[in-house]
Amino acid sequence: MASWYFKVMEQKIDLKSALECWTQLGVDDILVEKSVDRFESIEETLDLVPSKPEAAPRVEPPSRPVQPQVAPAISASEANSKARQLAKSALTLDELRTAMEEFEGCPLKYTATHTVFADGNPKAKVMLVGEAPGADEDRYGKPFVGLSGQLLDKMFSHIGLTRQENLYISNILPWRPPGNRQPTPAETSACVPFIQRHIELVSPDYLIMVGGTSAKTLLDTRDGIMRLRGKWREYKTDGLDQPIKTMAIFHPAYLLRSPGQKREIWKDLLVIKNSLLKDGINLDYA
Ligand code: URA
Repeated sequence: MASWYFKVMEQKIDLKSALECWTQLGVDDILVEKSVDRFESIEETLDLVPSKPEAAPRVEPPSRPVQPQVAPAISASEANSKARQLAKSALTLDELRTAMEEFEGCPLKYTATHTVFADGNPKAKVMLVGEAPGADEDRYGKPFVGLSGQLLDKMFSHIGLTRQENLYISNILPWRPPGNRQPTPAETSACVPFIQRHIELVSPDYLIMVGGTSAKTLLDTRDGIMRLRGKWREYKTDGLDQPIKTMAIFHPAYLLRSPGQKREIWKDLLVIKNSLLKDGINLDYA
């Protein structure tokens, strides 16, 4: 085989490993002067999405940017027990945020820009829990501010729930997995005590698990979202006075990719709305 062939192949392999290495380090955004709207063709077929998506809203980063450091080596079980200890000692949401910012047991913290804690009204009776921040959330320091967040806001505003008034939103993981990959079981296990404590401190009447990862983690089950969604269940932990009524719904990112599921999400939202109305929970249609 000609030597030029081996040279070209070597360069290809080098480039591939460089790309993989950058992705692992969280360098997966290519910034250009003008944004390219790759979702335009999808929106035409999905009337759930605003016809012209606005750029992610400008929000002041609420948390200190994570300082770039190297993740200390710590086993998954050590990380989980340290997280449990820190989470349990937090008696307020501010203390919980500080505990998470001080936690060193999840390597994702060291590739993320912000610790994405929560958004919305912490006194709300309805709390949503998603999976993990994406690129926009990592940049702005708030959950669900990108395209799927805009769809989530639109879905819930149709049933009278907005983060400005009566909705509180957080995620299983407060740090973005590089390249928006699925969080690993070790990463989830290191972070889960924090969201469990977060739910205990907010103590909402309703907990809506947004997407399969959130539902599987909080319900501690291997069942998939197709089986879990649309049914009321109970969420219990030792720190809660009483179980919370909970339901899993499709993740808006999945709905953007699968507009055919629109009917199912509307069914689930209506079930949620009717239950809230029955419980006398104030819905905001201002
Ligand atoms: N997807 C999530 O699950 N959470 C976010 O905050 C953003 C996108």
